[in-house]
Amino acid sequence: MSGSAAIGVFDSGVGGLSVLKEIRRVLPGEDLIYLADSAYCPYGVKPVPEIRARSLKVTAFLVELGVKAVVVACNSATAAGLEQVREAFSRLPVIGVEPALKPAHDLTQNGKIGVLATSMTLNGIRFSVLVERFGTGVEVFTQPAPGLVELVEDGKLDTPETGALLHQYLDPLLEKGIDTLVLGCTHYPFLIPMIKKIVGAKVTVLDTGLAIAKQTVRVLEQNRILNPRTDGGYATFYTSGDPEKVREVIGKLWPYDDQVSVLKARL
Ligand code: DGL
Repeated sequence: MSGSAAIGVFDSGVGGLSVLKEIRRVLPGEDLIYLADSAYCPYGVKPVPEIRARSLKVTAFLVELGVKAVVVACNSATAAGLEQVREAFSRLPVIGVEPALKPAHDLTQNGKIGVLATSMTLNGIRFSVLVERFGTGVEVFTQPAPGLVELVEDGKLDTPETGALLHQYLDPLLEKGIDTLVLGCTHYPFLIPMIKKIVGAKVTVLDTGLAIAKQTVRVLEQNRILNPRTDGGYATFYTSGDPEKVREVIGKLWPYDDQVSVLKARL
């Protein structure tokens, strides 16, 4: 596999852009291909076998486009089928995401950690293993948050509706006295300004975008497939849903100057 090939990144929708933008920041010379599987969004409330099958299909689509590695920029897809994707594409480096429980464990002062994520992530075996490893000596309070993903997909980052739903999910965690909040879904970092308004300055809010980008650098280095270019990487966007709707939202969420165009992925 050549270092000049693109990195493939996917999510159920636009949430994975919170990871993609960090990959662009640390690897500005890499070409990136992003797939928003919007026709199947949200993933987090669907049956595991369905999302596993989607993850395999989407990865096959990216491989067909010639990517040199795949980042599963979705906690739910990682929970549902990271192992199966790795098995099916055994020669392809595949990077997943998981809630930042280890950093939370290291950072918390009062030992009370909140985790906001989809039901699929919270009910998965990977999450139980994480809690077993990093939940010792602390209390971990989990909160599934249906509906938030759809609001981000609609670009409703700071509407009263979003504020009300965030209160519904965050107030119970605040009542438990958490001092650290883990965002276990890649859509939620786009809500950080609103989340911070609700939880206040005393609660540390953790997002995994940058850690995943750094992990991507390590994996590319280990496989000797880093692009030697240090600038000028090109981002291409695909969606299985409505390209015009997705282009509009990406326009809001993508912080770089690229001319964003979104292609239809038939899969
Ligand atoms: N962004 C996703 C995650 O990290 C997907 C959420 C969903 O589609 O339900 O879990």
